Amino acid sequence: MRNPIIGGNWKMYKTIDEGIKLAKELVNNLCDLTECDVFICPPFTILEKVSEIIKNSPVKLCAQNMHWAEEGAYTGEISAKMLLDVGCKYVLLGHSERRRGEPQEFDEIINKKLKMALSKGLLPVVCLGETRKERKEGRTEEVIKKQITHSLREIDKIDILKVTIAYEPVWAIGTGDTATPEQAEDVHMYIRNLLSQLYNSEVVEKVRIQYGGSIKPDNMKDLIMQDNIDGGLVGGASLNAESFIKIINACKISLA
Ligand code: PGA
Repeated sequence: MRNPIIGGNWKMYKTIDEGIKLAKELVNNLCDLTECDVFICPPFTILEKVSEIIKNSPVKLCAQNMHWAEEGAYTGEISAKMLLDVGCKYVLLGHSERRRGEPQEFDEIINKKLKMALSKGLLPVVCLGETRKERKEGRTEEVIKKQITHSLREIDKIDILKVTIAYEPVWAIGTGDTATPEQAEDVHMYIRNLLSQLYNSEVVEKVRIQYGGSIKPDNMKDLIMQDNIDGGLVGGASLNAESFIKIINACKISLA
């Protein structure tokens, strides 16, 4: 049995005051949460403030990105050590908005970041998924296989247990075009099978695979009921406490 894991990716939204307000609302409503793992990913500018607010709560802090180097002359970047210093437990790696950003983030860079995050004790959430064009061309599995094998290169079966995979079809992110539970489950099952080939099935049974892409309170229930969907990575609907809490509550039904 895998406990659901739900993340709220605030992206480039929220000023200090707005972030504090949202974090307080979450903490006040989720103080008794035990069944699910919940993390939020505020922008770097408010990590410290949010960290103070959620310190003794079940809500954990996640960064939206980090650099692969320990430290150095990397203007504008942030290191794993800095994230730990501010109270982060998790870090998102390879979000599609970064894979297609400037500079573009490739699987090889994501793999370097993953190794650094693991070596420092951060829990990585590795994001991957196909574009609409790739799906239309029938290349979804090929794309996922490449992303998995390259980004997880040289990660052993102890460390893979610390990793969460977030399957986020690019065509579903921020579009309102959620994958159907069946479409998502097909890819989640494919990912779990791939991981079984790379590791072993006993280990892989414990790895959690989140779905992400236009999750809303009313579609989470059907998604979480799928065998291989272990939670959600939520963008837009995590910017409002009420909808994010409804999504977390929807995930609890998979435990009933
Ligand atoms: P969305 O974003 O829920 O707004 O589609 C998901 C994500 O980018 O992680």
